[in-house]
Amino acid sequence: MTKPADPIAGLRMPLSEAMETQRSIRRLSPDPVDDEIILRLIELGTKAPTGSNFQNWEFVVIKDQTLKARIGTLYEQAWKIYGRAGRALRKGDEAAARSMAAVEWQIEHFEEVPILIVACLRGSRAPFLPVPPVVAATYYGSIFPSIQNILLGARAMGLGAGIVTLPLWSTTRIRRLLKMPIAVLPCAILPVGWPIGRYGPTHRRPPGEITHLDTYGNMPWKT
Ligand SMILES: Cc1cc2nc3c(=O)[nH]c(=O)nc-3n(C[C@H](O)[C@H](O)[C@H](O)COP(=O)(O)O)c2cc1C
Repeated sequence: MTKPADPIAGLRMPLSEAMETQRSIRRLSPDPVDDEIILRLIELGTKAPTGSNFQNWEFVVIKDQTLKARIGTLYEQAWKIYGRAGRALRKGDEAAARSMAAVEWQIEHFEEVPILIVACLRGSRAPFLPVPPVVAATYYGSIFPSIQNILLGARAMGLGAGIVTLPLWSTTRIRRLLKMPIAVLPCAILPVGWPIGRYGPTHRRPPGEITHLDTYGNMPWKT
């Protein structure tokens, strides 16, 4: 896929088309992405809801090659364990093997990704047990809607992007690298760039298989 002439005009794409074709694009070209585009994506991210409308998100845009390489090393360290487990568990699954090959490609080329957006939550500490699970859900639920807005916006503009959390396995190391205060929690990294491959469609379970009516287990739409 080549870079569109007017990426921001791509935001006029029908919502259903963006949703149905948005998927993780890991093979990205090193061609630069304009600041205007990145700021527009973040602006779209801020249109998402947050718990109590705290708007407690913050974003770190990373362009520095050395930082990208260091984060790539953290990613590689986590992948050594996670990838090995994934290969053992998903043996014989061709789709999973393709996706894991793409992850490995991205790790090898991490410092060439034009932009990393680190999506963070600010202001309060992540909840620890024994708080009810809904407290944790509300906390993390204040960043992922904005991440999804960014991913949909990127898709409509013809950019490749995805969610990456494995490099964040050590919050301490990431905070140290990015000079981030303890009151800010990095939640996900979004590598963004012009895609080498193509977009969707994605393959998901049908809604009838995962939807219950009134009480759990009553599944009238299941075929
Ligand atoms: C919370 C979360 C964390 C994820 N972390 C990673 C990651 O560290 N590396 C990666 O390559 N993909 C990561 N993904 C992407 C998923 O693997 C991907 O969305 C899923 O396999 C479906 O594929 P698709 O996005 O192409 O439809 C993550 C997704 C979510 C929602």
